Amino acid sequence: MATAAPETRVQTKMSAQLTSPRRDGCSQLRVALFGAGRMGQRHAENLVPLPGGILTWVCDVDRAAAAALAEKYGCRASDQPQEVLASADCDAVIIASPTDTHMELMVAAARAGKPILCEKPLDIDSKRVVAGREELAGFDVLIQMGFNRRFDPGHRALAEAVRAGEVGNLELCLITSRDPAPPSRDYLARAGGLFRDMMIHDFDMMRFISGQEAVTVAATGGALFSNDARAVGDIDTAAVTLTLGSGAICVINCSRRAVYGHDQRIEAFGEKGMLVSTNHTVHGLERYAADRTGARAPLISVSRDRYRQAYTNELAEFLDAVREGRRPTVSFEDAYRALLIADAAERSLREGALVRLDRNVC
Ligand SMILES: NC(=O)c1ccc[n+]([C@@H]2O[C@H](COP(=O)([O-])OP(=O)(O)OC[C@H]3O[C@@H](n4cnc5c(N)ncnc54)[C@H](O)[C@@H]3O)[C@@H](O)[C@H]2O)c1
Repeated sequence: MATAAPETRVQTKMSAQLTSPRRDGCSQLRVALFGAGRMGQRHAENLVPLPGGILTWVCDVDRAAAAALAEKYGCRASDQPQEVLASADCDAVIIASPTDTHMELMVAAARAGKPILCEKPLDIDSKRVVAGREELAGFDVLIQMGFNRRFDPGHRALAEAVRAGEVGNLELCLITSRDPAPPSRDYLARAGGLFRDMMIHDFDMMRFISGQEAVTVAATGGALFSNDARAVGDIDTAAVTLTLGSGAICVINCSRRAVYGHDQRIEAFGEKGMLVSTNHTVHGLERYAADRTGARAPLISVSRDRYRQAYTNELAEFLDAVREGRRPTVSFEDAYRALLIADAAERSLREGALVRLDRNVC
């Protein structure tokens, strides 16, 4: 069976109002950043080389954190979202605040008519997502979700090759998703669990690569090493098997700790062969000697570096989509579908059972 083109490839025009978000005609978008933490800092840094956007505001409930980041980039700081959204210096927003604040901030930004780039996942609670989704449907506002791995050159090339039929019918997709070290206990406590916080990237990649939805979800996992994960009722290690609409199987293995760096590999296997998007080492040198063959440099262990190109490409896509008045290539609906898989994985783990995903659950 041929692999379907993902719905996310469709790029339709948005309303004229959004085609020219700056009334003064200048093409450089003035961007307000919500959240001055780990991810906010990454976005601020990655925005600098992009000619299409400039950081004008940093908004954080922690005013000192907002002020420190704003000072670094020579822009304004606030702890009041409404002040920022009402400002003439805000054409678009990036939401990089904790996951459980995303829906509220998205609705506020949409009400103010501001295009949104929002970090993954949508929320930790899909009931809140369903309510927010209804509210957001009333606004013709561009929403791009922060699934940066879609913009990683290797992963993207693999997805495009699968969709171009290079492996013929996709039969197996194997995703290894291991981070160097777990985030803090405070972060874990409000992140929504491993499936929603971390494996959500892999659920999204499965959809992006295959153009298909998951039909069944079977999860196993546990807290094997992280006291922080255990303390907040989370797990640190998991494996999830998904059956796709065509019958293809996707197996994802995930760990919060890989002592050798970012281990992020994807294999797509089918009737005509295999495609592999492999790991990134800090440089390309290989060493050969009496006691080693092809010894390579260590894997990149800093996540802002492993996905630097992906984050930059993601931001560039957002700025282009806003300027061109078109829908982004990774949408709210994509994030909603990935969240449904994460919810199903959690249920599967809790109940020790295979969970069937009803495509009409909306
Ligand atoms: N795409 C990725 O690779 C990636 C990586 C890490 C984190 N994330 C996502 O980014 C988001 C933030 O994660 P982080 O690691 O930066 O967290 P963090 O805890 O380092 O930073 C969050 C910041 O948001 C601020 N904040 C809290 N409530 C706020 C509100 N209502 N409005 C504005 N600011 C608020 C906090 O004071 C803090 O400074 C999460 O949703 C996470 O899932 C994505």
